[in-house]
Amino acid sequence: MSDLNSLAELESQLTDIKHAFEQEFERFARFSDPVFVKTGTVPGTIAAQLPDLQSYQDILAQLRTKYFGKKSALAAAKKSIGRVAPEERSSFGQFVQQTESSLLAKLEIVEQSLRARIATERIKRDSIDVTLPGRRPRHGHLHPITLLREKIEDVFVSLGYAIEDGREIETDFYNFDALNIPQNHPARAEQDTFYTTAGLALRSQTSTVQIHAMQRRGAPVRMIAPGRVFRRDTPDPTHNPMFYQVEGLCVDRGISMAHLKGTVGEFLRRMFGPDTRTRFRPSYFPFTEPSAEFDFSCFKCGGSGCRICKNSGWIELGGSGMVHPNVLRAAGVDPTEFSGFAFGLGIDRMVALMYSLDDIRLLFENDIRFLEQFD
Ligand code: FA5
Repeated sequence: MSDLNSLAELESQLTDIKHAFEQEFERFARFSDPVFVKTGTVPGTIAAQLPDLQSYQDILAQLRTKYFGKKSALAAAKKSIGRVAPEERSSFGQFVQQTESSLLAKLEIVEQSLRARIATERIKRDSIDVTLPGRRPRHGHLHPITLLREKIEDVFVSLGYAIEDGREIETDFYNFDALNIPQNHPARAEQDTFYTTAGLALRSQTSTVQIHAMQRRGAPVRMIAPGRVFRRDTPDPTHNPMFYQVEGLCVDRGISMAHLKGTVGEFLRRMFGPDTRTRFRPSYFPFTEPSAEFDFSCFKCGGSGCRICKNSGWIELGGSGMVHPNVLRAAGVDPTEFSGFAFGLGIDRMVALMYSLDDIRLLFENDIRFLEQFD
């Protein structure tokens, strides 16, 4: 049972709650102004943006819990009504109720106007100005390496060649052994590549596809295999650790060096014009015998010498030769019945030549300002 003294105490506690609420609530009072609901601001203040309004709303929700929640001082005051003397209980009860509803009314007006304002701001944010001009979608186009690869493919398809899709991850057998590069052969070091822990390696040349193609198709076979290869080369203007090659292979009865020269010559004439000349220089590759590197007369100066051909009149393009009998054998083709030629060239350096690029690394940097020039 409570006496008069403690009633006065309860009433004063309630007044304190009221003051504390009013103090905290003061900063929100401006939002109950109808001008705010209409315009988003009240004279003399800065208009609140949508995120601000949302955070005000969150703070208000916290205020509601603090002052009107189950654990609030007001809830405690309500519970104390029962402890007030019966003759005073009703008037104290009314006092508590009135205090609560007057505070709640203030809070609710502000909550409501914030809600209305947020809804208006959201509509404003999400609305579309249909009179604005549309955004033109950017048209993509093929990468210069792809453009050249497709051009090479077209030439060889028209010569009756199939296109083989090789594997980028290879076993030692395809990468080296079957290509007549046994363990400890110095050519392994020259083309050292990236190895996985499972004894596999990223192929260091497209010549690996020669073996797959002969195994799958048998002989006779005519195919080209464009694709990505990998070497432990330090990047510089003419080297990348990842680049593209095209392999060519023709195996049949009676194939000779003359067929190789004729085919490469025709390919280069179709690529660079009917006056293009080809030349072969003796070279060495473990998987061809004899081997030759091939050059073609400079497409820019026609052979008189310029910056592109470094004044030599010739441009070096790739390696070639007659497929080594050991390679035919490794792929299950009888070298006493069949012979063949193979060749390989790097696409990146060819693109660089054709477009006068000083650095093949540009082809991999994916700088849109560079790539856009090949539309
Ligand atoms: C070979 O890879 C042989 N497989 C070519 C071949 C095929 C010979 C069939 C005989 C028969 P080579 O290592 O020279 O050869 O590379 C061929 C071409 O790849 C080069 O002419 C060059 O254009 C390109 N190339 C080589 N290393 C790089 C590199 N790090 N970055 C860009 N291009 C490269």
